Amino acid sequence: MNFFLAKKTLHYFFCARHKYGHGIHSPFVYDFVRNVLRNTNTQAEYAPIERRRKELCRRKDRIEVLDLGAGSTQLRTKTRAVSDIARTSLSPKKYAQLLHNSALHYQPRTMLELGTSLGVSTVYMVSGYPLARCITLEGAPEIAAIARETFAVCCKPLIELIEGNFNNTLPQALEQLEYVDFAFIDGNHQKEATLDYFQKILPYCNERSVLVFDDIYWSKGMCAAWQEICAHEQVSISIDLCKLGIVFLRKGIEKQHFTIRY
Ligand SMILES: C[S@@+](CC[C@H](N)C(=O)[O-])C[C@H]1O[C@@H](n2cnc3c(N)ncnc32)[C@H](O)[C@@H]1O
Repeated sequence: MNFFLAKKTLHYFFCARHKYGHGIHSPFVYDFVRNVLRNTNTQAEYAPIERRRKELCRRKDRIEVLDLGAGSTQLRTKTRAVSDIARTSLSPKKYAQLLHNSALHYQPRTMLELGTSLGVSTVYMVSGYPLARCITLEGAPEIAAIARETFAVCCKPLIELIEGNFNNTLPQALEQLEYVDFAFIDGNHQKEATLDYFQKILPYCNERSVLVFDDIYWSKGMCAAWQEICAHEQVSISIDLCKLGIVFLRKGIEKQHFTIRY
């Protein structure tokens, strides 16, 4: 863990509150805490996905990785063991469950993911609301091939994966989706890139849109991007969970920011 992230994580653990929603006056955020963060009724649905994660963690093969993003803090080589990617790059179970519960609760008609990796977070999201149309974007072809295996193994053949640099594939995905109800931005963790993706996605959003940003305290740049996103006039509710930041664009509710213990 880098020094900046360590400092921010420590600060979060001292300052985050409202673990069970007590003391939150916003009915919308209280509902989020109770039905998304604290929903433990969906555990059984994760079993096949976690089996796939375990399988990936045990794989011995190495693949060529085209690194188009900010790069992993732990792995910099161009060939990587699949098991290392599975252990270091995927959303941990707890945060993947949050994506699942969000989809289950808000029932987005469309889902967009920037950064498929091995497909685990994608399958978590889609299994929360299988009726959604989901497009996920991945730049490294050999990683994308394993993600496709994950979709097949977890019986989610309708997930659409577009391969290529986000700079080219994001406009294409937005055009295909027409609107974005739910987005998980989890790749190329750099300030300018993150703000650019946010700006590109915004015109396709509506008042039910939910945008989730990963690694908001990964670096000073990501922290600055997160603060700019929270301050944006279209963002009404922003929620800081330290690893993830979530923003809602609901109209007619007071602009508020929450740091919630998760
Ligand atoms: C952190 S991983 C995604 C993890 C995945 N969402 C999960 O939680 O299981 C980020 C992925 O984004 C991809 N990526 C990063 N920058 C990219 C870019 N500019 N264009 C396309 N893909 C990119 C990387 O190849 C990597 O597989």
